[in-house]
Formats: sequence, C-alpha cells, structure tokens
Amino acid sequence: MSIDPAFVVAPVSRRIFGSFVEHMGRCVYTGIYEPGHPTADEDGFRGDVLDLVRELGVTTVRYPGGNFVSGYKWEDGVGPVEQRPTRLDPAWRTIETNAFGLNEFMRWTKVAGVEPMMAMNLGTRGLQEAIELLEYANYPAGTALSDLRIEHGAEQPHDIRMWCLGNEMDGPWQLGHMTAEEYGRLATRTALAMRQFDKDLELVACGSSSRAMPTFGAWEATVLEHTYEVVDYVSAHAYYQLLDGDHASFLACSADMDRFIHQVVATADHIGAKLSSDKRINISFDEWNVWYLRELQSGQGGLPEDWTEAPRTSEEAYTVLDAVVVGSLLITLLRHADRVTAASQAQLVNTISSIRTEPGGPAWRQSIFHPFAQTARHAKGTVLDLRLDAPTLTTATYGEVPVLDSVATYDAEEGRVALFVVNRHPSEPVSLSTSLRAFGDAALAEALVLADDDLTAANTESDPDRVVPRAHGDVKVDDGVLTAELAPASWNMFLLQ
Ligand code: AHR
Repeated sequence: MSIDPAFVVAPVSRRIFGSFVEHMGRCVYTGIYEPGHPTADEDGFRGDVLDLVRELGVTTVRYPGGNFVSGYKWEDGVGPVEQRPTRLDPAWRTIETNAFGLNEFMRWTKVAGVEPMMAMNLGTRGLQEAIELLEYANYPAGTALSDLRIEHGAEQPHDIRMWCLGNEMDGPWQLGHMTAEEYGRLATRTALAMRQFDKDLELVACGSSSRAMPTFGAWEATVLEHTYEVVDYVSAHAYYQLLDGDHASFLACSADMDRFIHQVVATADHIGAKLSSDKRINISFDEWNVWYLRELQSGQGGLPEDWTEAPRTSEEAYTVLDAVVVGSLLITLLRHADRVTAASQAQLVNTISSIRTEPGGPAWRQSIFHPFAQTARHAKGTVLDLRLDAPTLTTATYGEVPVLDSVATYDAEEGRVALFVVNRHPSEPVSLSTSLRAFGDAALAEALVLADDDLTAANTESDPDRVVPRAHGDVKVDDGVLTAELAPASWNMFLLQ
C-alpha cells in the first residue's frame, strides 16, 4: 500500500458520521427518552445515552423514520403532551403515544450537539403537510403555524436544513408505496413547493431500499429524471448479515456497498448528461448497518403479535464479526467521500443499534460502537486516494474481492494520517506494508485492533466491555514504511504523526 498527501479524493464530510433515530422498538422510548430514569434530565432525555452519543461522535441524526414516517402525522407529536393522541403504527405494529415528537427531538439534538435530518411523510400524506411542517418548524414567527410552535414552547425556529422526501418509496412494504414515475412526480412537486419557502434547503430523494431490489437502477433513473434539478441527494439503503455461517461473504459485504455506490453515481451522472445539467447529485447513504433481518422477517425475535408500546424489536447483540463488518462499511463510505457526502447508520439506540439500554438500568456500548467511534474521531481532513496491491479472496456471494478493505485520511492542520484497514480473510492473517515516505518522518502515534479468537463474542449488560479495540501488538514504522500483521477478520487503525 502507498499513501501520498498529493492524491486526494475529497474532504471528509462530517455528515458521513450520521445516525438515525426512528420511532421503532425502543429507540426513542427507553432509548434516548425515559422520564424518571436516574440519569434523565428535566426533558426526560437519558444522560447516560447522551454521553455515549457524544462519545460515538455522531454528527447528524435522521428522524422520525424509516417506515414509521410513511404513516406519521407530525401534528400528533406537538403541543401539550396530555392532549396528544395515541395511535397505531402499522409499520412496526406498535402503539405510539406521541409523548416524544418534533420539538422534543429538536431539543434533544441541541443537547446531543448533532444536526437534524428530518424525514417527511410522502406515503399517506403529501405536499400540503410538507409545507405546513416546514412553516411550523422553520418560519420565525407571525403566522398561524409558526406561532403555534412558539405556543408549544419552541421560541426559536428550528431551521432544519436537510429533509428527506419520504422513505423507501420503492418498497412494496412501504405505506403508500409508489412506482418510480409516481414518486418522481410527487417528490418534484413537494421539493418545488418547499423551495418556494426556502431555496437553500438540502433535499434528499428516495433511491433504492437495497441494491437487490428488482427496480434498482431503473428506480434511480426515473426518479432523477423528474427530480434532478430540485434535489441535492439521492438516498441509498443497505443492510447486511451473516447468512448460513458464511464468514467470508459476510466479511466481504462492503464490496456490495462499493458496487452500489458506483452504480448509483453512474446512474445519476447518466441522467445529468441526458438533461445537459452541470449539477451533480450526491448520495445520502441514510440507512446502513448489520441487521439480522432474516430473523425479523421469519418471526424469530420479530414483530410482536399484539400491539404494544415500545416493544423489543431487532435488539441485536452485535458480535466481533459484526463490528469488523461495520468498520469495513464505514471505510467504504469514506472511500467514496467525493460522492457520498451524508450517511446515517441505522440506528442509534436499542434497535439495530450501537448503544443499548435497559429501562431504568444501564446503557452500554455494543461491539459496533467502537469502529464507528474511532473512525468518527480520527478520520479528519481529506480522504486520500491510496494505492493498494493486495491478494484477492473468492467469496460465494460477492465473487473475488481484495482481501483488504482500506482508507486513509490526512489532517493537514494536525499533520496526522489515519489509516483504517480491514482484513476480510476469515482465517488467514495478512502482512501489510505501507509506504508513508511522502509524509517525511511520520511516526506511529497509536495503533488499535479489533479482533478476537471468538468471533461471536459480544458486549452485554453484565459484560459491557468484552469487545473493545486493543493496542496493536504487531506494528512498526521504519524508514517511512509501516509494517503490521493483520489478524484474520480484523479491523485495524493506525495513526501517524
Ligand atoms: O431502519 C429500519 C428500517 O429499515 C427502516 O424503518 C426502513 O426505512 C428500512 O427498511
């Protein structure tokens, strides 16, 4: 591998380190919000969770869904709590009390120090509600809806800049699912109306729910033919899981994310060419993670039979293997920093999450917390176009892939290089040799590895630090060359200064 500060992909967009809070399972209730919890503040926000959110380094948070948003009335979640209606949420078969809504979320983002990314309902609702929500949220004062917000205790406008025009409208499971043609027209009308209020909003059109969707590619092309000039981003969603014990394929799944990004970029650029546009559409990868979806779909640990409040849905206990994969997915997102300029890991707390809590009890870091937190903390400045010559590995699901997945960033102000490398090989170590001569006499400042003889080890309430990154035992820098032994199925980070 060689790294040189002269070869730059793009600045690191801090928005790549986004996350997602959906009204799903216990992400909100007993996740970020639990009045009466020993650490809760006067708004009911759990302080232990807030501390972990800050440590995780999350920059933006998408809200309130997800599939939830496609049946959501934002008006139900504002105003005096005792007057808010209780509703059924068909997306996750839950009873939604609406005790937590827009103004609570916006207060929480301030305390957490994150930027909001708001999704609006284009499933059961549309243009009128979108512009009303915009007026309520963003207009300072003096109109019916902005004054209502002030009456509800939010004196200052929320000034939300990023808006998702619906969620996964390509998915047959989505309330109000549409064809690409129908969605493209609705998203365009909605975006145009929103821009009449504020031309500088940043708008995200729905792309595909996964690269495996039968409409993938055609969906993006049709939607962008309509929306190209009125949106800034097209979204992409991807979830991966270990299937049938095939470690090699699971460890290589970022190859699918890589192809996904290449193909969406190619499609967007094709539409740009077709429309003779100089504008460039970027990707908001606003749902990604490891998710044991097959278990959810097959009913094991899945959606509840009965309608209940805040059930335990998709509370994955992430393993070492999952953490290595999450590190690799983040590496892939960063490598495409020129076109992926926003991303949200799904989700933040309890449901498919980095952080777990018990009601009334503790909060802890899942294994996947660690590669995210380290990357968010150290990937700064610019992403470098590193050169890698690595052996390949043949996998059943993704064919031949390089055995290493890697990215390097360079923070010129601090004079610091951060190198992130995943060894995808499930059973063989790899010897890494990296030329850093272009950085003069850069020395090793820190080296961490996340790996374990037991790939199924996970953090739990009783053993919350079973899986943590540890100091790298097998690394040195000599004469401008870093050499290291990378353990099988490992995530590695090297900082040089
Ligand atoms: O993040 C969980 C769910 O996954 C979201 O609600 C939906 O958009 C996606 O299918």
